[in-house]
Amino acid sequence: MLGWLRPKNKSLPADGSGEEQPRAAADGEPDARLIHTEAIAESSPSSFERSFAEAEDSADLTIPLLTVTGVERSFPVGGQQLHVLKGINMSLYPRKLIMLKGRSGSGKTTLLNLIGGLDQPNKGEIVFKEHPFHLCSDDQRTQIRRKEIGFIFQSFALMPLLSAWENVELALRMADVPRSEWKQRAAHCLELVGLSRRMHHRPFELSGGEQQRVAIAKAIAHRPSLLLADEPTAELDSQMGAQVMSVFRDIIETEKVTICMTTHDPTIMEVADHVFEMVDGKFINT
Ligand SMILES: Nc1ncnc2c1ncn2[C@@H]1O[C@H](COP(=O)(O)OP(=O)(O)OP(=O)(O)O)[C@@H](O)[C@H]1O
Ligand SMILES: [Mg+2]
Repeated sequence: MLGWLRPKNKSLPADGSGEEQPRAAADGEPDARLIHTEAIAESSPSSFERSFAEAEDSADLTIPLLTVTGVERSFPVGGQQLHVLKGINMSLYPRKLIMLKGRSGSGKTTLLNLIGGLDQPNKGEIVFKEHPFHLCSDDQRTQIRRKEIGFIFQSFALMPLLSAWENVELALRMADVPRSEWKQRAAHCLELVGLSRRMHHRPFELSGGEQQRVAIAKAIAHRPSLLLADEPTAELDSQMGAQVMSVFRDIIETEKVTICMTTHDPTIMEVADHVFEMVDGKFINT
């Protein structure tokens, strides 16, 4: 069903069907194409853009972005230890779409929290780029996360009183991106997710799929190299879920990001570069 969304290296039509394209404005509406063009015209590639482009062009795609080795995680519950992860090994390579599957309670979110530096393993190693997360303090992991990792949640997690534009701008502020970059970058990210014409809408004025696309724009605004998404399509119908996956495929190409997501949906899994299946705290198909 999602055949048209298969990875680019499996030769696909790149028409991005289903994506909203910027169109001419109706009377009285601002023309999103003009807003975007203005934003682009305002500045030539900035230092932020240039340093990103240079770093990414020289990236070695055969070196893992993240490695997880022998990771275990247990939680104290009722005086006993609940062993959730029992020896996880995985490598995530640059510019890939990776999915984690497994029954409810199998430990997918627990693992995502560990690789995003939100939590620490009881045993084992997690190395993200040159950073050994298992040895880093909370503050060090927070700093790395702010600069290098983006998160997307099932429930979108947008600020309800802020417009789509302001939500993305807030992410840039939080990541210490220079103020002069905000306008162009926010416009670019909203255009990437096909929402140029909805940038002044607040979350309650958007559909579920549109809200999730704002959440994607927000998560990639600071140019993370790793994007983690916990069941990003679970609250969407199949068409909106397919749109989100199409956006994911696009941003892997354009933003050079690696995406690691969880899902229960076999149709969505069709578009992954690799699916890890978790059973009883371990992967069965690495
Ligand atoms: N902080 C915690 N304290 C105690 N137990 C926890 C904690 N976090 C997770 N668990 C337990 O670990 C197990 C795995 O939880 P996790 O949320 O990782 O599962 P999941 O695979 O993401 O499930 P789902 O598909 O339902 O989202 C569950 O049994 C859960 O109760
Ligand atoms: Mg979960």
